[in-house]
Amino acid sequence: MHSRIAGTGRYLPARIVTNNELAERVATSDEWIRTRTGIRQRHIAAQDEQTSDLALGAAREALAAASLSSADVDLIIVATTTPDMVFPSTACILQAKLGARGGPALDVQAVCSGFVYALAIADRMIAGGLARNALVVGAEIYSRILDWNDRGTCVLFGDGAGAVVLVPSDEPGILSSHLHADGHYKDILCVPGQVNRGGVVGTPFVHMDGHAVFKFAVKVLADVAEEALAANGKTARDIDWLIPHQANIRIMDATAKRLGLATEHVISTVDAHANTSAASIPLALDVAVRDGRIRRGDNVMLLGVGGGFTWGSVFVKWQM
Ligand code: ACO
Repeated sequence: MHSRIAGTGRYLPARIVTNNELAERVATSDEWIRTRTGIRQRHIAAQDEQTSDLALGAAREALAAASLSSADVDLIIVATTTPDMVFPSTACILQAKLGARGGPALDVQAVCSGFVYALAIADRMIAGGLARNALVVGAEIYSRILDWNDRGTCVLFGDGAGAVVLVPSDEPGILSSHLHADGHYKDILCVPGQVNRGGVVGTPFVHMDGHAVFKFAVKVLADVAEEALAANGKTARDIDWLIPHQANIRIMDATAKRLGLATEHVISTVDAHANTSAASIPLALDVAVRDGRIRRGDNVMLLGVGGGFTWGSVFVKWQM
């Protein structure tokens, strides 16, 4: 038994914040942000929107694309670092909002690698007969864990959600997945705060060593792509579309260069969405599916990297 992606969807909050708007708040400029990161703008959730609301919008689109209803879904996994609340999981809240019940629902916390982790888990659960139709969502509201006075971090992130529906298949749609983590790097990218006895102890904002993250990300993204190619008896020439985590165009270009892949094969939405953490890969995937770039039979390499540090790949033969 294999699984394949049968539908994709996305949801982006209505409000767009441009680099120029940020420059009115902190000492930065559109030119600095664009040349260092490739980011032009980001979407920011409204006060009354929760991560599960963003997830719901993306999930509905993905279900419609797969011609399935929420009653057909028997597994929900939400990858998020910014859950609605400490518990229950955002996946359980999403399940209720979808009007589904009974099947397992869980969150995956692997920061920006969350979506590839979640997709790998769902694929193995379908292959093992533990689930039939799975909804896998990456959804984030990073705007709530940013220090909006810290120009080193607040310019980098945005809010949004992307989703896929995974269904059983005789032909492999998910060719392979490879997941990794090294907790020794936990301090270079973190939100070190903790809810404790009615207050937040520590810092509830993103803390980052930008240089260390940059170096680490480029190395592990290229390594994990090579690992997937070797496992499938393929080379970088066999990749039709590379969708790395959308953190920074320079990290994405450097990864493609290390793999010897022309940048025309890299799907990038970081200019319009900024870094949406666990949502970035399914958002970019949905854009490229809907604009017709990704077609049936294409080999699509998804690469995640994020806090933890965590990293991983899911190599997909597109079957839609
Ligand atoms: N606007 C203007 N100047 C800024 C800003 C800003 N928003 N932020 C930092 N600067 C200043 C710094 O203070 C520094 O000034 P100084 O030289 O007077 O000290 C100067 O710009 C250069 O700073 P650098 O850190 O050297 O700039 P760099 O070219 O390395 O770019 C960046 C910084 C974009 C953060 C880069 O290190 C990077 O992309 N790192 C990866 C981080 C990343 O993508 N994080 C996302 C999360 S990670 C993930 O998702 C896996």
